[in-house]
Amino acid sequence: MLADIAVIGAGYVGLTLAVGAAHVGHTVSVGERDQKRVAALRNRVCPIFEEGLADLLSEGLVAGKLTFTTSNVEAVETAELVFLTVPTPSASNGSADLTVLNAVVDELAPHLGDKILVLKSTVPVGTNRDVTARLRTAGCLAPVVSNPEFLREGTALADFLHPDHIVVGSDDADAVKRVAELFDQGCPVTMTDPMSAELVKYATNAYLATRVMMANSFADLCEAPGADIDAVTASLGRDHRIGPHFLQPGPGFGGSCFPKDARALLDLAGEHGLDVPILAAAVKVNASRQERIAAAVLAEVTEVSEPVVGLWGLAFKAGTDDTRESPALNIGELIAARGANVQAYDPEAVAGDPIRLCESALDAATGTDVLVIATEWPEFTGEDLAEVAEAMRGDLVIDLRNLLDPEAVRTAGLRHRRVGKPEQG
Ligand code: UGA
Repeated sequence: MLADIAVIGAGYVGLTLAVGAAHVGHTVSVGERDQKRVAALRNRVCPIFEEGLADLLSEGLVAGKLTFTTSNVEAVETAELVFLTVPTPSASNGSADLTVLNAVVDELAPHLGDKILVLKSTVPVGTNRDVTARLRTAGCLAPVVSNPEFLREGTALADFLHPDHIVVGSDDADAVKRVAELFDQGCPVTMTDPMSAELVKYATNAYLATRVMMANSFADLCEAPGADIDAVTASLGRDHRIGPHFLQPGPGFGGSCFPKDARALLDLAGEHGLDVPILAAAVKVNASRQERIAAAVLAEVTEVSEPVVGLWGLAFKAGTDDTRESPALNIGELIAARGANVQAYDPEAVAGDPIRLCESALDAATGTDVLVIATEWPEFTGEDLAEVAEAMRGDLVIDLRNLLDPEAVRTAGLRHRRVGKPEQG
């Protein structure tokens, strides 16, 4: 059933939700406090790089299904459901900082009436209860529903349009049903209490982050004796109890969610006198992995005065311009901090000092002693490796994403070091 909805916060989750909801026919009003962002969005300028988003933004604006305002109160005026998609960054102790969320709840309380307030931001377990209490204190009786988001950057719209499942939690059964039917795409829906819904989000990201770290540890274990990680993960993936996803080894997990949510879950556990040692280990191993990679790169240039390291990729993964907690950026900065010149190219992401940004992948390889591939952009596989070899000063490619075809690298006369594989060349 189509509805009039408001979305508060035009970050990557809010914008994807708003644009996707308008695309499927809902009427969407977005409240965003950043005036420049609102002006750009009204002019059909999409502030983030996300496949398909710019086109559907234009579609929604032209169809009159999508409007943007700097006033949250105005955004919710005619809405039946109000989605909160504001940031909940890490506070200094690792917990999620709810300052912005609470301020929006206070601002909207006098204007919600019986509209359904939907919490989509990633929030600690117990936030639904606390937000409900906050509203009641302000005399507002609006039902509060938790509806965590599972979008991945780079495939956010596709994930929105074709979710694996939906989770909706509230103490108000009618509100749960209303939110569940809103985006009924025929996928399984978990209708539950608010705390379970809030925990599902953290549990999912924590589990996936731990899985990535397992794959990375298996890759390390392959390298020493000379085994092949692809054979190991392919076989693991064929066991239906395990499944094939999130077993790709690399420079470690990054982005705006896994590291932040892992810290928040550890903080939540601590608050209850509990421990999640496997998650704590994943966070620790992830950080030391990037230190170890940087040290391994520097070990290759100890004899070189004025060493130059090339970096292909800055984004935390392909398909996005996001560099938040990016392993690529982190590794580049660690190398630069220890005295090597780092020059980088990314098709979408940017970086500043101490990394020198280049115009092309070939530029970033030119004059380098070592070339590090840190983000799995498919276009890197189309580079002319003979030209790259010619342009480099050294001959070592450290491929942290196992991206390049080993045969092609060998033919170009380059040495190829991959993750969880015997070195070649
Ligand atoms: C993640 C979750 O996958 C989404 O479901 C969730 O909605 C989102 O966080 C969020 O909480 O908002 P995202 O941060 O976009 O999505 O990125 P992922 O694709 O999950 O990748 C996370 C990190 O793990 C990246 O650094 C990626 O390179 C790494 N990774 C992922 C691997 O190293 N190997 C893999 O096999 C998979």
